Amino acid sequence: MTKPRIFVTRIIPEKGLEMVRQKADVEVWQDPLPPPYETLVQKVKGMDALLCLLTDRIDGNLMDAIGPQVKVISQMAVGFDNIDIPAATSRGIPVGNTPGVLTDTTADFAWALLMAAARRVVEGDKFTRAGKWKTWGPVDFLGPDISGATLGIIGFGRIGQGLARRAQGFDMRILYFDTRRKPEAEQKYHAQYVDLNTLLREADFVSIHTTLSQDTHHLMNDARLKMMKRSGVLINTARGPVVDPQALCRALSSGTIAYAALDVTEPEPIRPDDPLLKLDNIIIAPHIASASFQTRNKMATMAAENLIAGLKGERLPNCVNPQVYSIKP
Ligand code: GLV
Repeated sequence: MTKPRIFVTRIIPEKGLEMVRQKADVEVWQDPLPPPYETLVQKVKGMDALLCLLTDRIDGNLMDAIGPQVKVISQMAVGFDNIDIPAATSRGIPVGNTPGVLTDTTADFAWALLMAAARRVVEGDKFTRAGKWKTWGPVDFLGPDISGATLGIIGFGRIGQGLARRAQGFDMRILYFDTRRKPEAEQKYHAQYVDLNTLLREADFVSIHTTLSQDTHHLMNDARLKMMKRSGVLINTARGPVVDPQALCRALSSGTIAYAALDVTEPEPIRPDDPLLKLDNIIIAPHIASASFQTRNKMATMAAENLIAGLKGERLPNCVNPQVYSIKP
């Protein structure tokens, strides 16, 4: 019997690749950079499944290029805003993602950014390396206390709650905003539900954990950044376009807010001439919040499990468009 053919859009942790190699003929894109869209469209033709990453644009045109035999699109990420889900659903293609396994690792990183921004760790490191450390300075590198401060969490899903869990250890007052209240989590983390404006006005640290959608695109714009405290710190480990980068640059340059720490940018990667890169009061990491050995291994095996289930015609263990099963013949 001929094996199914699958295309993997980048080298992923070996554990996941090995699992799919046992079930399919696998072609892996070897370049460290993602395949350009037009190349991907050519590469996927006739494949039975696609294992992709958040750096790949997967739209209806690409799905049509794969062909009607495609059984599954499996993304190695929890977010899937790069995939046109309605287009997949209308073509009967189940789409898999990797929720849960990266919650703590991502929350750890959001916490690391919060602490690094508050305590100016990156600036301090640059200062030392530049040979500028001449003495202990009584008023140098001052930043806000974390313990006892107010944390505002926008998006109180798994990762947002993970951040609240960490903040509890620092006796923080926790506010959250979400499209719906989460009474159980509220109780568990002693978090208070507030509207977005209240959160922005009262929080010392604002951390973003929403998905990217039409509703959250440029959610943090000039007006909302102005609502934050002048001493406020903004952290984004969700998706870059939730923050308007030009508005952020204006806010950081004019002292409207004190500091920002981003793991995600718009666009990604950030352009080398982006004015944000000229500022000292921002930390910018290259989208690495889930980058622990253990978590990337788990994400790869989970993506492989979704892919293998799809190839067998079974329900994906983690499917983002389960409606696909009710509309399929
Ligand atoms: C990372 O950003 C992910 O969505 O998994």
